[in-house]
Amino acid sequence: MPPKRNKDKLLQIYEALINEIDVGVHAIDHSGRTVIYNNKMMEIESMRKEDVIDKDFQDVFMFEDGQGSTLLYALNEQQEVKNRRQTYFNNKGKEITTINNTLPVYDGKESIGAIEIAKDVTVIERLIRRNMEINRNTRYTFDSIIGKSSSIQEVIENTKRATRTSSSVLIVGETGTGKELFAQSIHNGSNRASAPFISQNCAALPDNLIESLLFGTKKGAFTGATERPGLFEQAEGGTLLLDEINSLSPMLQAKLLRAIQEKSIRRIGDTVDRKIDVRIISTINEDPIEAIAQNRLRKDLYYRLSVVSLFIPPLRERKEDIIPLIDFFISKYNDMFQMKIKGISNEVLPVLSHYDWPGNIRELEHVIEGAINLMVDEEVIEVSHLPYNFRNKPQSPTSQDHATSNVHQLLPDNDKKLPLRNLKDFLLEAEEIYINKALEKHNDHLTNAAEELGLSRQSLHYRIKRMNK
Ligand SMILES: Nc1ncnc2c1ncn2[C@@H]1O[C@H](COP(=O)(O)OP(=O)(O)OP(=O)(O)O)[C@@H](O)[C@H]1O
Ligand SMILES: [Mg+2]
Repeated sequence: MPPKRNKDKLLQIYEALINEIDVGVHAIDHSGRTVIYNNKMMEIESMRKEDVIDKDFQDVFMFEDGQGSTLLYALNEQQEVKNRRQTYFNNKGKEITTINNTLPVYDGKESIGAIEIAKDVTVIERLIRRNMEINRNTRYTFDSIIGKSSSIQEVIENTKRATRTSSSVLIVGETGTGKELFAQSIHNGSNRASAPFISQNCAALPDNLIESLLFGTKKGAFTGATERPGLFEQAEGGTLLLDEINSLSPMLQAKLLRAIQEKSIRRIGDTVDRKIDVRIISTINEDPIEAIAQNRLRKDLYYRLSVVSLFIPPLRERKEDIIPLIDFFISKYNDMFQMKIKGISNEVLPVLSHYDWPGNIRELEHVIEGAINLMVDEEVIEVSHLPYNFRNKPQSPTSQDHATSNVHQLLPDNDKKLPLRNLKDFLLEAEEIYINKALEKHNDHLTNAAEELGLSRQSLHYRIKRMNK
């Protein structure tokens, strides 16, 4: 009958429409069973249609305590709910936050079900929460330090030893190498962990402000001065991190030296000395000996500050850390942005390995974050997602050209009659020749050979073992 066929067609059109729109739609009938569950809703809730359709809605979803379902409310109370924020868990334990409009549906006067229209705000919620966490307190520990290179592992070992005492620590390292990370790890790993950790960048403010910040002021010491304890007093029992110590003026360096020697400070304008018990960790982003030679760092202060001295190597000198760091940052931003990036493409690794990383790990993190921001459906970071200066770079001659010439030497003569060898055997032999060449060049220094080959140390080690088998 034509009217019936028209109705069926119309239903099909409605169904197609419901599945195409960019808001989640979920409808239940009068008994609480799901009758409509569109594609967007599937995406928001990470559920399959067959797990929801025709099932009792309350069997499928669990709600946070005290938060009833708006769908059931609309059905039972026959009330509309507008712009309600809802946080709940699907049956795989995934937390979901949506803004919902929910309304009862009637057939005449009889209630026949309820519809929910949902906008997914999970990502926004996560971003806000994350930001709050960052602002509250970033509490790094040794577990937060990623890196398997022997050089970084050695620094970690030395740093761990420094947690047992209250000696001053000087951390030397270029920008972005993780000085703050190490300083916080020392504090959090020491018996001062429950007391404050306060950090102050000495280059960020003019001298007189830094002075009153560090030492505090007595009321009336100068116009507008209030009675205020300085950072030394606020860090009592804990740790004070002084960043970029080399940018303090000679006068303030002398004052700092006195405070460390006498273990007491005097607020500006005050006449009383106050005892302090604060561990000082300072950082410098240049060679301290150079800074002393150029009068940017007092020698006597340097000796006081560097009872323990840690040097964090720049990333370009420990390239085997690049892969674990990339993995770490990808999973960090996957969580933060609710993405599912799996890794980097084969073309990306040589590009990142050949780069010098003047901004060190911070720069690497920004490159990964930036790439993920450009991605929509892709699962793998490609060269096109990297910042402009990484793209269209000619490969360094060390990798491609030599590789090609070596492979040519291995190939059989151009005699077409000769049989070709099994590809796997051929590649293994090529690999052996190439690895031996790299080892010879680097006097069997595994780390350096691995770096030049673009391999991790472990991977090179494995291949050498395979060769000698
Ligand atoms: N080994 C590491 N593992 C994981 N993340 C790291 C590592 N090193 C540094 N980072 C990250 O890189 C960023 C920069 O680190 P940090 O702030 O500690 O560097 P910094 O040496 O203090 O830099 P600056 O000299 O510019 O102050 C931070 O986000 C930090 O979490
Ligand atoms: Mg820092």
